[in-house]
Amino acid sequence: MTLLGRELILGVGGGISAYKSAELLRRLQDIGFGVTVIPTRASLNFVGTATWEALSGRPVTENLWNNVHEVPHIRAARSANLIVVAPATADLLAKVAAGLADDFLTNVLSATTSPVVFVPAMHPEMWANPATMKNVAVLRERGYLVIEPDEGRMTGDDFGIGRYPEVNRIISELSTYAELKSDLLGKKILVTAGGTREAIDPVRYIGNHSSGKQGYAIAKAARNRGAQVVLISANSNLPDLAGIETISVTSTLQMQEALNSRFPECDLFFMAAAVADARPIEVASEKLKKGSFNRIELETNPDLIFELSKSRRSSQILIAFAAETGEMDIAAAKIKMSSKGADLLFLNDVSNGSIFGSDKTAGILIDSNGAVLECAQQEKDTLADLLLDQALTKLG
Ligand code: CTP
Repeated sequence: MTLLGRELILGVGGGISAYKSAELLRRLQDIGFGVTVIPTRASLNFVGTATWEALSGRPVTENLWNNVHEVPHIRAARSANLIVVAPATADLLAKVAAGLADDFLTNVLSATTSPVVFVPAMHPEMWANPATMKNVAVLRERGYLVIEPDEGRMTGDDFGIGRYPEVNRIISELSTYAELKSDLLGKKILVTAGGTREAIDPVRYIGNHSSGKQGYAIAKAARNRGAQVVLISANSNLPDLAGIETISVTSTLQMQEALNSRFPECDLFFMAAAVADARPIEVASEKLKKGSFNRIELETNPDLIFELSKSRRSSQILIAFAAETGEMDIAAAKIKMSSKGADLLFLNDVSNGSIFGSDKTAGILIDSNGAVLECAQQEKDTLADLLLDQALTKLG
């Protein structure tokens, strides 16, 4: 059931260990999750809404009756790739096992089709209670992951099985359960996407057909593998990707400015945008009339990846793209790659309107070590993972 996204709901039950979920929330964010907290009303006796809002950076409510016109429990249930309930009280386990839904969190749990992980924490007597044991068994039978509590000291001076588990163990068990791929954890990835536009006058521009789909696919795949991703997007109509910092630009020089500030910190750099090679020397401030619209004087734009490669650290990996029409000339592509200081280049044939705007792509991946890999037609999402694999191998 490999997780395809990193949107997570953290349900917080009403137990004294609710404060430990603050640490869990941080760790989930560290491994690339965008986290929305849904507390139960009882849990607010232990940790308040303000804490969850500040830590998650998102609004928090326990109330099922807010913004009813947006049907928030269904919206939340559909938005989450994974739900973690921590601490899961005896009451919450019982409710979900019985299919009860009487507040926001239990409604979301009853509506979700995503994997759900329960992190029980309660006094040993409550954990050992046959009703709780039965509910845990029912939940496990239905495919939920119910993590075993730790053994240790309780809130009072009692001792036994029921403690909130170590956060490391929670992360490790839920990663295995959700088949979480985290090989890009801690890596910073910079991606450009779309096509730059150069203004001629207030209504016209020089541009290209790039949709941004390949760049967005790389950004999304990198996020899903735990990377911290910055996407510089030029004139793409694609919806924003949750959990990815997106900087919108229009022209090549704007893209260069954004790159100059974000390139130094990245580990992998994917220059997937189609860059306008030249721009009008003068941009008319008024719309040009037919009579005077017969010639545009151009000046060359900087080669963005080449300029960046001059200041690169040896530990950075640069991936270029080349969209050609006609025969795919590997020798020429190798020269292009090395002249731009790139480590990998994905070469494809965009003749006949194929590839631009499509969800599919095909091409040849060329490595600066001389290796050449034919990539048969596949989803841009699939190629994104392949490019990340190759780039990661080169990163070492
Ligand atoms: N590129 C860039 N800056 C430019 C032009 C291209 O950074 N001004 C990048 C593209 O984003 C791509 C790679 O360079 O990753 C190759 O782009 P391509 O258009 O094939 O290269 P050009 O240098 O424009 O060569 P050509 O003469 O074949 O158009």
